[in-house]
Amino acid sequence: MFITLEGPEGSGKTSHIPPLVEFLRERGYHVFPTREPGGTSIGEQIRAVIHDLKNAEMHPRTETLLYQAARAQIVEEVIRPRLERGEIVLSDRYFDSTIAYQGYGHGQELEQVRQLVHYATGGLTPDLTILLDLDVETGLQRKVRQQEWNRLDAYTVEFHRRVRAGYLELVRQEPGRWRVVDASRAWNSVQEDLRSLLLEALRR
Ligand code: TMP
Repeated sequence: MFITLEGPEGSGKTSHIPPLVEFLRERGYHVFPTREPGGTSIGEQIRAVIHDLKNAEMHPRTETLLYQAARAQIVEEVIRPRLERGEIVLSDRYFDSTIAYQGYGHGQELEQVRQLVHYATGGLTPDLTILLDLDVETGLQRKVRQQEWNRLDAYTVEFHRRVRAGYLELVRQEPGRWRVVDASRAWNSVQEDLRSLLLEALRR
């Protein structure tokens, strides 16, 4: 089973994944966590280029292609082989981030972005995608506090509003694949909801 976590900036995805993995492993599930962009040696190098604040002149099409390059590598090197071995792959972001950020955020033509994503993934789609939803101001304030500011965080608040609205539109278009968790609540409540959603999906 292939499960992805998505969300706007500061939604806390990254802090929720290690305890989720431990929780599932204690119950006997074979889970492998990964993240995008990154998760492979090539992908981590591409991540450094995309996120570097010095690369302020990067064009949205360049950015979109770099994310797809990192993604193609992780799909073939990590995700597909592990799924074929029957493992559960839990990814911190996947192609919905490209649709939300590069598609809705930058206002690039959605159909073209979808085609690129399809090329990069060879059509591999998650079985379940969970959106950690949070209002944009709260999320960006969290990021400032955590001092994890990257080149994308520095885009305008309007950009991040389009990203969040994009995610909600994706949920509306494909309700069967998505679940939404309100990430503005206390961390423990969010973690509990995530655990229940994962167990429910794995028992199906
Ligand atoms: P994160 O590791 O803090 O979630 O940072 C990843 C950043 O990259 C975040 O700002 C979202 C962005 N991103 C995209 O814009 N498109 C993508 O396809 C992916 C995977 C991430």
